[in-house]
Amino acid sequence: MCGIVGVVGDARAAEVLTEGLKRLEYRGYDSAGIAMVVDGHIDRRRAEGKLANLEALLRTSPLAGSLGVGHTRWATHGAPTERNAHPHATNRVALVHNGIIENYREIRAELTKLGYEFATETDTEAAVQLLTRYLDDGMSPEEATAALLGRLEGAFALGIVFTGRDDLLIAARRGSPLVVGWGDGAMYLGSDALALAPFTDRVTYLQDGEWACLTPGGATFLNGHGERIEPQIKRTSLTGPQAGKGDFRHFMLKEIYEQPTVIGETLNTYFNPVTRSVQLPECPFDFAVLPRITIVACGTSYFAATVARYWIESVAAIPVEVDIASEFCYRNVVLPPGGLAVFVSQSGETHDTLAALRYARKHGQFIAAIVNAPESAMAREADVVLPTHAGPELSVASTKAFTCQLVVLACFAIAAGVARGTLGHDAEARLCRAIAEVPARAAEVLNHDERLRQLAREICEARDVLFIGRGTSSAIAMEGALKLKEISYIHAEGFPAGELKHGPIALIDDSVPVIVIAPSDKLFRKTASNMAEVVTRGGKVTLISDAAGIESQGGAAAHCIALPTVDPFVSPILYAIPVQLLAYHVAVHNGTDVDQPRNLAKTVTVE
Ligand code: G6P
Repeated sequence: MCGIVGVVGDARAAEVLTEGLKRLEYRGYDSAGIAMVVDGHIDRRRAEGKLANLEALLRTSPLAGSLGVGHTRWATHGAPTERNAHPHATNRVALVHNGIIENYREIRAELTKLGYEFATETDTEAAVQLLTRYLDDGMSPEEATAALLGRLEGAFALGIVFTGRDDLLIAARRGSPLVVGWGDGAMYLGSDALALAPFTDRVTYLQDGEWACLTPGGATFLNGHGERIEPQIKRTSLTGPQAGKGDFRHFMLKEIYEQPTVIGETLNTYFNPVTRSVQLPECPFDFAVLPRITIVACGTSYFAATVARYWIESVAAIPVEVDIASEFCYRNVVLPPGGLAVFVSQSGETHDTLAALRYARKHGQFIAAIVNAPESAMAREADVVLPTHAGPELSVASTKAFTCQLVVLACFAIAAGVARGTLGHDAEARLCRAIAEVPARAAEVLNHDERLRQLAREICEARDVLFIGRGTSSAIAMEGALKLKEISYIHAEGFPAGELKHGPIALIDDSVPVIVIAPSDKLFRKTASNMAEVVTRGGKVTLISDAAGIESQGGAAAHCIALPTVDPFVSPILYAIPVQLLAYHVAVHNGTDVDQPRNLAKTVTVE
């Protein structure tokens, strides 16, 4: 999704902007640009495609100054061309924008009648021209911005600089995240704190509806009514080197390899190794009387929620509904009074999940957020936050955040089972032993990397790939298919194995690899029968199981991957890793842009 950076009062402004944009690259984008105020005049450089193109342009045609804004654009309205790239500008103002201005057509029509000429197809230009109109009417930049914010509809973040004002950068947030950074004699702006990490560790997160006027010496923060508010300044622990790839070729591989560590760190928050028991932060609800739990998420986080449904229903015997956030708000879902709604999100800022959270709040639910970004909107709006400690995840395809979400959800299920008395002491001890083992077993799973790389050579030729599994493994099958299509662009589908014969089996022939996710649990034999149905029809099966599973069925599969034998409760956490590695190696083999796959964004802040 679009990334915003801004700086005022730093003589290295052009470098600050390009460095900040590099650190936002992970969000996904298709063009980039910067605008600076030089000797009172706005000058800008924009380029289609990767940041390298913008950097090349800046080498031949540099910009110097201490005030500017920069942007990576993920196209919504208007093709990803240089003309539609941000910053958008007139002779009075330059602006960068993340989100969607919903009433842009109306504003555009109104301004066109007044003689304002539009140069692009973007919604953003409506904001630029409207600001220009207000400035033409004699308003100051601050007055014009206040008037603009009163007119715009939709969710957005803005960074604005003005002709003739070498000392002013305005930032505004309604929906899309924005962070102000405090430097010495300079102020910074970014879509997240990671973008600002090389320049400052003191930040203020703009809250929804707030805006700020930044000058070299500091900033004034205002609420939606234009009243001054006191900013809260926090220190972030994010540092420059955290954004590096280390010895890894891609962020995705680095993040896959970080999993044993970050799973361990997440587990440490919820699992006490001395008492060998799980503890959640204090919750405002009582598990014992909860009528229902509704879990809502998007993308990979939705598959973590899907696994959790099996866990919570079996361990805590509470009815669980799992929903895709973009559907949840619009299907008049009936929520029981006093129910619990859990929102799972790496970023904590995904537009649809946030909208679903607000819907659930309005409908009388307790709100829990499982997020990797503790300062995110979801974390702020929840009654209880259950953080994952995956650290910054920069590859668009989520890996370590997913397994850490699973760890939190597994602990959540155990805690719910204990609180409701549905999990006996022995069963609790068994699940706790199983979960405590996960970091070590995850490290063993990584030993299959080379084998998966070899297997990827076969898969990369395929046009379609199917993933199947039962129970929690059906969710891992779906996540495996999502990973593969996201980064290798090969068509892949994941199904509950029992559903295969109701349609997908028609796709099977000897050109379709089928990945079977089947730990030897109570559903293993049933999945094995479905695998046999595939083999009988010429399908090339890769069986991902454990030693016992492979010994019983391995002969039928073209390839086998033997993962460590673990309690079936924790198998989804471990079985996620080989499907991540497989997708990664297929993508590398096919030469796609692994960390920033085409058309995708890391954090989707538009509807
Ligand atoms: C995007 C990302 C996915 C992610 C999904 C949900 O589509 O590309 O990797 O799973 O958003 O994001 P969230 O931050 O809410 O987990």
